[in-house]
Amino acid sequence: MSSHPFWETQPVSNEISNPGLIDDKLKGYNNKNETPLPDGLEWHHLDINQELPVLIDFLKRHFMSINDCFTLNYQESLVKWFLDFKDEDFNCKSSPRLLSISIKKENKLLGYICAAPAYIKIGEKINETAIVNFLCIHKKLRKLRLAPLLIKELIRRCRVHLPHILISPIFTAKYLPFQPILDAKYYFRYLNFEKLNNNRFVNVKNYENYDIPTLDSNITFRPMLPDDISQAYELFLKNIKDKKLSIYFKNKEQFTRYFSNKIIDGELNGPIYTFVVTQNNKVTDWISCYSLPYQVEYNKNELQVLNLLRLEQGETDYLTLFNLMFKSAKELNFDLFCTLDFFDIKNKSELKFESQDVEISYYTFNYDCGIINSSECSLILP
Ligand SMILES: CC(C)(COP(=O)(O)OP(=O)(O)OC[C@H]1O[C@@H](n2cnc3c(N)ncnc32)[C@H](O)[C@@H]1OP(=O)(O)O)[C@@H](O)C(=O)NCCC(=O)NCCS
Repeated sequence: MSSHPFWETQPVSNEISNPGLIDDKLKGYNNKNETPLPDGLEWHHLDINQELPVLIDFLKRHFMSINDCFTLNYQESLVKWFLDFKDEDFNCKSSPRLLSISIKKENKLLGYICAAPAYIKIGEKINETAIVNFLCIHKKLRKLRLAPLLIKELIRRCRVHLPHILISPIFTAKYLPFQPILDAKYYFRYLNFEKLNNNRFVNVKNYENYDIPTLDSNITFRPMLPDDISQAYELFLKNIKDKKLSIYFKNKEQFTRYFSNKIIDGELNGPIYTFVVTQNNKVTDWISCYSLPYQVEYNKNELQVLNLLRLEQGETDYLTLFNLMFKSAKELNFDLFCTLDFFDIKNKSELKFESQDVEISYYTFNYDCGIINSSECSLILP
């Protein structure tokens, strides 16, 4: 019997042969009928507008934990942000309904997967594709081969309902049995060492001074406002030329939906936090993050974690940019800053970044594009 009965039958790449689509017909996926499920289980179209609390509860209980001691505490706002794309931007109808699916039994959620259409630059080409996320199976039903059923049904729906796009989804995972296009390492920057230490997130032996250095007070670093968006988008379009893996936005409206801040009563309200550096009212650099708290399992405390989503450098060096972001994150009461290693930062130790053992890999389904260097990637998936 094959050791990887699912992936061995899928159009994924193990060595780079011909860049591009692996199977342009995806014959196995043109089936109009839903993927059969074991007896007693049924497919459910998860309605994000009505059932988000149920999904969040499911993800909190069953999604990822770090060493079983800390759990990613997904919030409604972040999942909604991920799935809140406009169908018109991708020439499709009702895709959130089609692409947010679950397996249920007697009204109970047992597994979930979703995809959001996106334009992704892979190599030199802009692809109409999808980002797959939140694949999750109930903890008591692991190793029962439900994950391949969710993946198959998602791909089938993409093929049947959205044949003009969504040909080669991209996703992150750990250690799948085929060639990732990129492996990336996580880095943490402790912002509130005392709280992290009190909640056993860090070991006291690691202590050094985690204060933020004094920064040039002439630099303006502030939340991005609607008037900044044209210039921020221009910088994005300029910098993307050097990237081989990146999300892409066809127009300013798509860009705005993805990166704009939510400000309520003058306060930043997440889940997205985008800051700009300005000189003489001109945006020179910007940085965008998303918040995803960790729950401490033994005492149920919450650690506030800010994760890098995008950084566009123009005139400010990395050292200053990151330190400006750390300072603002601290002021916003975040305890930890987390990033993937996509920047050729020479002075990681000066920034007090702690390298983690955890790695994540990027995979493409049905698309062969070879290996991408981490410095050529600016695609970060929540
Ligand atoms: C990841 C998860 C869904 C896998 O479920 P499982 O019950 O262990 O796996 P199943 O028995 O259903 O299926 C196994 C198959 O799915 C594949 N698989 C496992 N995790 C996968 C992933 N993240 N992405 C794609 N395929 C995956 C395996 O390679 C295997 O296929 P193979 O036999 O061809 O190698 C489950 O462990 C889970 O919910 N984890 C917590 C959430 C999580 O980590 N999600 C992934 C985010 S990166």
